Amino acid sequence: MEEKTEQKVYSIPRIGEPAPEFKAVTTQGDINFPADYKGSWVILFSHPADFTPVCTSEFMTFASMEKDFNKANCKLVGLSVDGLYSHIAWLRTIKEKIEYKGMKNVEVTFPLIEDITMEVAKKYGMIQPGESNTKAVRAVFVIDPKGIVRTVLYYPLSLGRNFDELYRIVIALQAADEFSIATPADWQPGDDVIVPTAGSCGVAKERMESKDENTTCYDWFFCTRKLDKEKVLSKILKK
Ligand code: BEZ
Repeated sequence: MEEKTEQKVYSIPRIGEPAPEFKAVTTQGDINFPADYKGSWVILFSHPADFTPVCTSEFMTFASMEKDFNKANCKLVGLSVDGLYSHIAWLRTIKEKIEYKGMKNVEVTFPLIEDITMEVAKKYGMIQPGESNTKAVRAVFVIDPKGIVRTVLYYPLSLGRNFDELYRIVIALQAADEFSIATPADWQPGDDVIVPTAGSCGVAKERMESKDENTTCYDWFFCTRKLDKEKVLSKILKK
């Protein structure tokens, strides 16, 4: 009789849901995710393979920005389906040998998960067979201090990510939480923010007609207000 091996079916983690739990071995010791990160924002991201050029450029860039993320109470955790000794050798090569775009001697001090069984990668929808059966795509999960998934991004193997955009996402999510606002296209701290749409026609009309110099209404459903850059950053960034 043919023996059947049971395949677990995972759905991709979705925005607003708890981040799937796992325990893993990393270059910085064992982790219990997301419990170990309670109280911090965390970016869990995957790369296809160690010792590859796009991934190397990404790690050097992300590691060089780590202090900025940490100041925004955000920790970084990487993952690929390579083993621990490959991770260690690759990170050592980056530090000792690679000079790229003015970055050199770059030490990656955030944990890099080994996932040779692909257990974690599968839980997080990082194995996308149309792109590769054997490598994780470039996934990004931004998870809040309560362990809730707040942003999900997936990039193909050939496309290096924009880490300034990841930083913008972390700041914008925190600003939205702190000030009960939303952020418009291409928002950066200091730009006007979106005032949530008023609940009733009367309130919307009142807002439209308001003489408040900090508020601009483009129509009844689209109002912005000023939010000082210092006010945003002093709330979010650790001294
Ligand atoms: C890279 O990081 O350069 C890479 C990795 C896997 C497939 C294609 C590119």
